[in-house]
Amino acid sequence: MSRYLIRGGNKLCGTCTVQGSKNSSLPILAASLLSDGETVLHNCPMLSDVDATVKILTFLGCEVQRKGDTLSVRAAAASGSEIPDGLMREMRSSVIFMGAVLAKTGRVRLSTPGGCEIGLRPIDLHLDGMRKLGAAVTDEGGFLECTAPKGLHGAQITLSFPSVGATENLMIAASTADGVTRISNAAREPEISDLADFLNAMGAHVTGAGEGCVTIEGVKKLHGAVHTVIPDRIAAGTYLAAAAITGGSVELNGLIPAHLGPIIDVFEQMGCVVTAKSDSVRLSSPRELRAVRTVRTMPYPGFPTDIQAPVTAVLTRARGTSVVIETIFESRFKYIGELVRFGAQIRTDGRMAVIQGVEKLFPAHAETPDLRGGAALALAALSAEGESELTNIRHIERGYQDLAGTLRALGADVAYE
Ligand code: EPZ
Repeated sequence: MSRYLIRGGNKLCGTCTVQGSKNSSLPILAASLLSDGETVLHNCPMLSDVDATVKILTFLGCEVQRKGDTLSVRAAAASGSEIPDGLMREMRSSVIFMGAVLAKTGRVRLSTPGGCEIGLRPIDLHLDGMRKLGAAVTDEGGFLECTAPKGLHGAQITLSFPSVGATENLMIAASTADGVTRISNAAREPEISDLADFLNAMGAHVTGAGEGCVTIEGVKKLHGAVHTVIPDRIAAGTYLAAAAITGGSVELNGLIPAHLGPIIDVFEQMGCVVTAKSDSVRLSSPRELRAVRTVRTMPYPGFPTDIQAPVTAVLTRARGTSVVIETIFESRFKYIGELVRFGAQIRTDGRMAVIQGVEKLFPAHAETPDLRGGAALALAALSAEGESELTNIRHIERGYQDLAGTLRALGADVAYE
């Protein structure tokens, strides 16, 4: 089982370029299934979740080639409509293929994507939306089947929660439906706008992405396109957190600073000095971090749930008491049990964590429970003088491209075994 050996205590300093967005690459790769030509994706991160998505595209009959961070997909000959259980289990966000496969073949069958480490992850909003677009949905417990033999048609859909995945699945399905679809209370994350830009590059007519209401005017077919994936705002926030927790100063390049607004705000409340230029952000940590009274995760443009764990790790070293409230997922504090091994003083009560800052953290052996919780544990290890061991890091490799190498480039002592 792979592990990190981290010798903490170094201040992280220097510059690095941030990877392309995992949460943008996955829906865009699913949408590439609808192109009748070649789609070329630049800035596609090298991650196990991207590899799993490529496996599904290939299984469905696509030709996929990777050259560095550029992926090309030819999907015209793809005719598969079933995603096998094994591939679904490899990555639960494979549910993002539902809209694309249904729109392309008139049918999709996949195993019910179970929950994961951070929650039950229901997909009722996806299924209700597909029904509104004209699909018949049968839920056989372990398997889901959606069929639309006469094709999909436009619909008025209002999401009871601005679900990122449901918004993306429905945008993709509606892009070649017959008529106009309006998704109200749609998610507004930057990844939604990036997907809309990709769909429009293929000839779709999507407007309103990034606002509360997305309108998709269905077109008959989608052609090839070339697209560059946006930078990963969560990976960026994680590296800023690494600078903050080690008292360092780091500049990240290749960013869209506007995507990090709520994240930067919390670091500034901690006393960090953050300067943003057109495509870079520098964070310099103060001698002593200040606690933040309340950090509450919210749908974009609120504070992102995916950066909750890394920021909580930093708050364990901030003077005073901080409160973190996780409003999006029901069990996204699993990593805290491991964080406490480093000497962090944290109490949790349901969706609330109360963090009492400590003078220092101590090296520990910890096991990674999930993707972002694992990043939080790595940050704690960077702060703790002495050698820490982090196991089960396959979770981290799902979403961070070469985390160890990037941290080493910033001055950290991280060995990957
Ligand atoms: C996406 O997950 C991201 N994953 C998540 O990132 C991210 O945390 C999440 O959006 C919120 O920003 C990808 O993009 C691959 P949601 P998704 O649907 O689409 C409830 C990471 O660490 N809900 O917005 O699954 C759900 O239970 C990952 O990179 C329903 O009730 O998130 C949750 O409480 C983790 N019914 C809330 O909505 C539904 O049909 C948010 O889920 C769908 C969702």
